[in-house]
Amino acid sequence: MKSSLTYGQLKQAVVKNAGCPIDCSSINEVKLALHVGFDPKNILYTSNSVSFDEICEAVTLSINVNIDSLSNLEKFGAKFGNTYAVGVRIRPNIMAGGNLKISTGHDKSKFGIPVTQLKELKTIQEKYQINITTLHIHTGSEIKEVSVFIQSAAVFESLLSEFPTVQVLDFGGGFKVPYAPNEKGTDIALLGSEVNKVMKKMSEKFGRPLMAWFEPGKYLVSEAGYFISQVNVLKEQGEIIFAGINTGLNHLIRPMFYDAYHHIEVFLKVTF
Ligand SMILES: Cc1ncc(COP(=O)(O)O)c(C=O)c1O
Repeated sequence: MKSSLTYGQLKQAVVKNAGCPIDCSSINEVKLALHVGFDPKNILYTSNSVSFDEICEAVTLSINVNIDSLSNLEKFGAKFGNTYAVGVRIRPNIMAGGNLKISTGHDKSKFGIPVTQLKELKTIQEKYQINITTLHIHTGSEIKEVSVFIQSAAVFESLLSEFPTVQVLDFGGGFKVPYAPNEKGTDIALLGSEVNKVMKKMSEKFGRPLMAWFEPGKYLVSEAGYFISQVNVLKEQGEIIFAGINTGLNHLIRPMFYDAYHHIEVFLKVTF
């Protein structure tokens, strides 16, 4: 039977059928998720540098929203006051991730509200009595070390007394997928047990139930297939041999864009 879903819709449908909520980075991804049938309460929208109109649209659609700038938080407070529960994305000033291009939590990153601007964040929250129910941190992609997530937990812990309405600590995504042979991915079982411990400790310390959220992205899909191409041309030039193939960065942009390593194997050799 031919599917009438687009590839994007199909991916979201798989996530939905697995019983997961979904994390979106753009308002159109949010609309796609609604189209596929996600309940708005199971959709999270974590934006970066978007216009305030998009945040308003997400509110109209009853989506969970994380706000990542003081300017949008100010506009949010002025318009919605305490009438809509919201999350804030914190930049924790933690350097993590496979390389600088995929590190989002360091002290020069554009993502999130710098943890050093807590005073400004609190001023806006108090001015409009904004109901902040989620603290969010996403430090980057390809994070192998469980300790990075524990560092994020320490940042949450340092903030929790300032945010008595927070119920959710969102640790973002970033689980490492092994790419090269013998490489190891994030130890998910260890991550689970370590995060459980710190969550329990924080719940006890602050005397309220706290929920941990994660937003794995590439971890769910990176090992789901192979990218197959054919060698068209071989050019020998001293010790360098170029293999010219029938694809390019139009099909797989990550090596050029993110300095990503993708292991290559010859699986069928044909001689003409
Ligand atoms: C806010 C947020 N959450 C989760 C992810 C997913 O990250 P990853 O694919 O490394 O798990 C990203 C990726 O950029 C992100 O920006």
